[in-house]
Formats: sequence, C-alpha cells, structure tokens
Amino acid sequence: LTTAATALALSVTATAGMAACEDGEIVVKFAHVTNTDKHPKGIAASLLESRVNEEMNGKMCMEVYPNSTLYNDDKVLEAMLQGDVQLAAPSLSKFEKFTKQFRIFDLPFVFKDIDAVDAFQSSESGQALLDSMQKRGLQGLAYWHNGMKQMSANKPLLEPSDANGLKFRVQSSDVLVAQMEAMGASPQKMAFSEVYGALQQGVVDGQENTWSNIYGQKFFEVQDGITQTDHGIIDYLVVTSVDWLDSLEPDVRDQFLTILKEVTDERNAESTKVNNEAREAIVAAGGTVRELTPEQRQAWVDAMKPVWAQFVDDVGQDMLDAAQNSNG
Ligand code: LMR
Repeated sequence: LTTAATALALSVTATAGMAACEDGEIVVKFAHVTNTDKHPKGIAASLLESRVNEEMNGKMCMEVYPNSTLYNDDKVLEAMLQGDVQLAAPSLSKFEKFTKQFRIFDLPFVFKDIDAVDAFQSSESGQALLDSMQKRGLQGLAYWHNGMKQMSANKPLLEPSDANGLKFRVQSSDVLVAQMEAMGASPQKMAFSEVYGALQQGVVDGQENTWSNIYGQKFFEVQDGITQTDHGIIDYLVVTSVDWLDSLEPDVRDQFLTILKEVTDERNAESTKVNNEAREAIVAAGGTVRELTPEQRQAWVDAMKPVWAQFVDDVGQDMLDAAQNSNG
C-alpha cells in the first residue's frame, strides 16, 4: 500500500508540473532520478522545462519526469536510443556500457572541489568527452554539477578501517566498486531509487553521495551519521541521442541549445550553495555530521588512491594529468 501510495503521489507531482503539449510541438521527455527542489539537478531541470515551454511555445514542449518516475538510470540510455525519451542527465558514473573515459570522474581524490571539476570540463579534454559516445548514438550536451561525495554507514566512519566488512551501495561504476574494495568493504551496485529501502532494511550498511542526495532521499534518517570525506564527485551529463538532435531544424536546435547553455551556467554557479544548504538542513533535521582531522582524512586518501593505478589505462595518463592540473 505504501509503495502504491508513493507511486501515485509521485505521478501526481510529475503531472502537475507538466505543460500540456500542443499539436505540432516537438515533445521532449526529460527523465531523471532525483527530487526537484533543494537539488542542483532537480532545480536545473525544472528551470530548463519552464524556459523551453515559455520561450519555445508552439515549437517545442518539455516534460520533466523526476524521481525515477519514467526510467531509472540503468534503463534511460537504452530508452533514449529507442526514441522513448529525448533528454536525461545521469551521473557521469552511469555511462560504463558506453565509454570507459568517464571513469576519470569517479577516481577518488582527483578533484579538490567542484570548481576544479568545472575547469577540467571546460578544458579541451573535458569538452572532447562530450562527443566521445557519438558512435554509440549518444551526444553529450552539457555538464551539470552536483557536488562532493560524503560517506555514511550504520556506524561511525572516522578511519577507512571503520568501513572494513561493511556493505556499501555504489552507483553502477567499476571504479566505485574498486574504491570500496580498497577499504575492505563489499560494494553492491544498486539503482538510486532503491537505496533508502536497502539502508533501512539493512540490505546494505552504508552509501556515498552528495549532501543534496543524502538530504533529498533522507538517507541520514537511516544511517548512524554522515562523515564529510569530500572524497569524490557526482556530476551529470545532459545527454540526448545523435538522431534526435540531427532531426531538429537548425534554428530550433540553436534556440534549444542556447537556453540549455544559459540554464547550465546559471545553475552550475549555485550547485555548491545548494549542497551546503542541504548539509545544514540535515543537521537541522537532527542528522549527525562528522568531520575528519587532517590525519584521518589523509588515511582515507592513502586507502583509496591506489585505485588510480587500476584505471589509468582506461582514462589515459594525459587525461589524469589534465584533471589534476585543474586543481590549480
Ligand atoms: C546516484 O545514483 O546515487 C546518483 O547518480 C543519483 C543522482 O542522479 O544524483
């Protein structure tokens, strides 16, 4: 009953925000998995939807389906290639089946903050990655920021050895599997929509995510506490299919891409603030947040960084150098 009620509530929410598309308009279905408010991706998707529907009225009509109501991230890219959805923004960790180059974004302790991620993505190397899946039918349009990842479990995590023997949910990325194994933990790949239930029922003991996801999904309510490790990042690729983009008239495509760029610049500039507010909201709601001493943090670096060697051939040493140089 609870699941059915939740599904109904979510579908009502999704429908409420949706513009009724008119005959002759190009319908753009945008499926994503997070909540819509107090979340960098959710806010950006809603802003994109309202701007497209206002400024391209009569030409294009966007419908955003948040909260995994249409597809989860495991299904959305296949659905896109079949033309069932036109836009998505999965995290960069979710492209394993299509390219190994994005592994650069999952390597622990490569980027010191989101400004460094932004600098790398704006560089020639970062921009080239947008086109890296064209042969597989996918076109990257923009990077959207979320933020730095934190670790949580059903017991305090201060030293990496505290994670030893615990089961952790990870996104579908072999780098993240290796990272958890490096700490002696058991990683389990799982869809985002299933994480809360899995933590609550003890199917897994812990997870890693950004403040906005830990707050938005209420993970803090079913964990002992959150440790501020800032050990990695979650960022997104706004992606479409090559076929769909090619099908647009040039002026329609240009207008759409211009709006997307403006939304991207505006919301990426706010992503760190949105995450900081989510951190504060977790504390205000009674969640426990733990900070590490410099010595403790160094122990996490020492435990996780050996993972780089396993994946350097996938990403290329030059790419790894470029990523590190973006730290300034
Ligand atoms: C996750 O699966 O944890 C994230 O990729 C979800 C998201 O879109 O932020």
